Amino acid sequence: MKTIETVAEMVQLAKAWRKDGKRVGLVPTMGYLHQGHLSLVAAARLDSDIVVMSIFVNPTQFGPNEDYAAYPRDLEHDQALAEGAGVDYLFAPQPGDMYPKGYSTFVNVEGVTDYLCGAKRPGHFRGVATVVSKLFHIVQPEKAYFGQKDGQQVAVLRRMVADLNMPVEIIARPIVREADGVALSSRNVYLSAEQRQQAVVLSQGLAKARDLFIQGERDGEALKQVVTDTIQSASLAKIDYVQLVDNLTMAPVDRIAGEAMLAVAVYFGETRLIDNVLLAIESE
Ligand code: PAJ
Repeated sequence: MKTIETVAEMVQLAKAWRKDGKRVGLVPTMGYLHQGHLSLVAAARLDSDIVVMSIFVNPTQFGPNEDYAAYPRDLEHDQALAEGAGVDYLFAPQPGDMYPKGYSTFVNVEGVTDYLCGAKRPGHFRGVATVVSKLFHIVQPEKAYFGQKDGQQVAVLRRMVADLNMPVEIIARPIVREADGVALSSRNVYLSAEQRQQAVVLSQGLAKARDLFIQGERDGEALKQVVTDTIQSASLAKIDYVQLVDNLTMAPVDRIAGEAMLAVAVYFGETRLIDNVLLAIESE
């Protein structure tokens, strides 16, 4: 595996691959890698000649009071994990190279960003859409791999590539969880032992709702209520939102008709955790 530290070098490589007709798969990350990230590499490995992983803690997607400076970083450890998982090129640029002095262009995806984390974290998805479109231009992948853990991120990026005619296929992969059900996240390291223990309520609540859905429950309030009750049973949990939304538009729905996403955001102290489950009606 080779680590590329400048945009210029990455652009040169990508041009050469394109000329040679190589299938390039891109896995964008902010590093501090775990099995969730590596599951995306495994998927990319299956259908690419060259797998590129980017590691870039993107300043533009963090709010002024969020954890940009404190976000966990460990490039050396990440290099070992990425290489072991089958990454060919690790792209790890510096912030000043991605956003040089005078940088002024941003990608704003409307509508789909009005809800959930988009409503709670103003500017977050503007930063995500901007950096991901930059990565697509730099690396020119055929396919890019994202986790369903960040379900709204997938919806925003699908909207972006469709609207801007970007020739990149967005592949969404399932949420990877710890043995007790907690979704893997780089931010889990912030949790105290007690908070970590209580964090199971997110996935437990969502699993109960999914069971109800499988038994035939279609009413949004009923599905959200069981999630809320479960989360509120944890003394350290503070709910940011529990929402049932259309999986394409992210707009709230009262009843499940097509494919919906039941999504939660919960604070444990300063740490904000998210999780979700897809509830789809095949044909009724
Ligand atoms: P990051 O939080 O590092 O996540 C990188 C990718 O890994 C995302 O697509 C995310 O959904 C996926 N991922 C994280 N935890 C996962 C889990 N438990 N199971 C499956 N996939 C998981 O998301 C970002 O970085 C950034 O917003 C980024 C897209 C890189 C733009 O800066």
